[in-house]
Amino acid sequence: MADDAIEVLLEEGRTFPPPDEFKQSGNLNDPGVWEKADKDPEGFWAEQAQQLDWFKPWDKVLEWDCPWAKWFIGGKLNVSYNCLDRHVKTARKNKAAIIWEGEPGDERVLTYRDVWREVNKFANVLKGLGVQKGDRVALYLGMVPELLIAMHACNRIGAVHSVVFGGFSAESLSDRINDASAKVLVTGDGGYRRGTIIPLKKNADEAVESSPSIEHVVVVRRVGSESDATMKEGRDHWWHELMADAPLWCEPEQMDSEDMLFSLYTSGTTGKPKGIVHTTAGYLLGVYLANKWVFDMKEDDVFWCAADIGWVTGHTHIVYGPMANGVTQVMYEGSPDWPDKDRLWRMVEKYGVTIFHTAPTAIRTFMRWGTEFPAAHDLSSLRLLGSVGEPINPEAWMWYHEHIGHQNCPIMDTWWQTETGHPLITPFPGITTLKPASATKPFPGVEADIVDEQGNSVPLGGGGYLVLKRPWPAMLRTVFNDPDRYVETYWSRFPGMYFAGDGAKRDKDGYFWLLGRVDDVMNVSGHRISTMEVESALVDHQAVAEAAVIGKQHEVKGQGICAFVSLITGVDNTPELVDELRAHVAKKIGAIARPDELYYAAELPKTRSGKIMRRLLRDIADGKALGDTTTLADPTVVAKLKEQYEDE
Ligand code: WT7
Repeated sequence: MADDAIEVLLEEGRTFPPPDEFKQSGNLNDPGVWEKADKDPEGFWAEQAQQLDWFKPWDKVLEWDCPWAKWFIGGKLNVSYNCLDRHVKTARKNKAAIIWEGEPGDERVLTYRDVWREVNKFANVLKGLGVQKGDRVALYLGMVPELLIAMHACNRIGAVHSVVFGGFSAESLSDRINDASAKVLVTGDGGYRRGTIIPLKKNADEAVESSPSIEHVVVVRRVGSESDATMKEGRDHWWHELMADAPLWCEPEQMDSEDMLFSLYTSGTTGKPKGIVHTTAGYLLGVYLANKWVFDMKEDDVFWCAADIGWVTGHTHIVYGPMANGVTQVMYEGSPDWPDKDRLWRMVEKYGVTIFHTAPTAIRTFMRWGTEFPAAHDLSSLRLLGSVGEPINPEAWMWYHEHIGHQNCPIMDTWWQTETGHPLITPFPGITTLKPASATKPFPGVEADIVDEQGNSVPLGGGGYLVLKRPWPAMLRTVFNDPDRYVETYWSRFPGMYFAGDGAKRDKDGYFWLLGRVDDVMNVSGHRISTMEVESALVDHQAVAEAAVIGKQHEVKGQGICAFVSLITGVDNTPELVDELRAHVAKKIGAIARPDELYYAAELPKTRSGKIMRRLLRDIADGKALGDTTTLADPTVVAKLKEQYEDE
């Protein structure tokens, strides 16, 4: 974030105290909880963990051998049992779990008992395909209930799921399958998106060609005759055919607290995405509590997290947290502007949504579309709003507050990461006085701090690196197949502290203001993309000699992707090639990684040791005066580049 923008943020003086009804009846309204949790974090988490259903209680709350954590040692439980069976045993059995709407307008309502039955059946299907406890299952689907069903079916039998966002390319899918050595892939014959069909099966086929670990592919029929999917005899099976005679009951596996629940890939500072590993008890406890407390889930709420399950937000705020709480949810397949820009607000009105959660990039998009779209609908059912994924700017916060919340809905700006499992810096609606664009303060039991280069705590009013100083139950346990990378990435920058990779400031009241990534990771529309990944995709093209990629401030996306490439000698730098290179990145990684801007550079600015100076490229792209260039091998390179950039 630019320095002037940070200053404007910190001058934000507006405050919004918790409304009386939340103060009185919020699920968390005792400010004493923080003090208690700080005095005895283990006691605090253990007390909360009583709210889960255990087959066998734990013997020991925590074993902490930094950076290796084990929580609730000796405990036995099952996640699908906690999210389904325990509701099915009560009056909740006939309560709507998922109110689903397809993009073309088709609807399905699944009660808790419906989901429970389908999960049991699919768990048996997976067993029938040879999936055993500990095996990995890759899921590559659009936003259909079968995705959620397959995830719970995996955890019911102790299999580990690895969900791959349906917008990723065949190659990205194959990389993730191979890293996890997944045995089974569940995909679809297609999915609807903005009126067109996402060729899931075609991509899956291409991916499986270079993924030898896959023994079976299960295909959900979604688009039917509109699909060009072909089935490979012996390997591919239709979901509905396998389900037709699957037994109705599958005994939930008694999982150890520390058994792996899932892995989810996220970008790091190197080209290769890393599989973030979450375990059973800790993750379940964290997401149960966060949804209960931050989103104040009550029996008659209708919750809607408009994220994709392919990202951690969808895992935590669709599949696991809300279901552990037994709440009713809305789930939507498609694009927010299909068939019109009021689609989401139409659905809020239609289903009486009470709690709505989205990302700043979406809010900025709604702002751009205009207030007439939300204004055309009765949004008075809403009582609470959420924001996640990137820093929200005060303007977007105020717009959300006024035009969606009609000034009645507190906004939960939740900071967290794939690695943290659930919001760790976040307001609570019955407790926190909000300041627009501040994620406010840490979750009970969590010790967050801001430190300088040396790891010393920075006093209130100052800025630096966000760190976490104590383990928490839902923290990642390792990087799949790469424990060294776990230690290196998160625990080496400041020994004994978890380094989040974010810059932050704290104001005089101790509120945290998140300022964006401090590493070579971009945040594009709330999605993490590494500069290296995009650079490797560019260099993979035969015309490219070298590439440097930076995140550039973008009005809607937060950051846009800006690439500088130098070409192989003899290749012409044509406008057609610009398009071809952008398309090449989209093909290699997925459309979310397509560069917004691409410039030719005769040479890239490098230090004398050959390191590309991305900082200077960022200055050029942001139109700023060039900082210190004395360490450059050839300072004229960057001057030329700046001139050329300004001409274009
Ligand atoms: C990165 C994590 C956590 C779910 C979605 C993204 C940024 C996330 C906020 C927020 C400022 C935020 C951080 C973080 N981020 N939430 N409320 N305010 N920044 O998960 O892909 O793991 O990305 O998203 O930079 O490190 P993710």
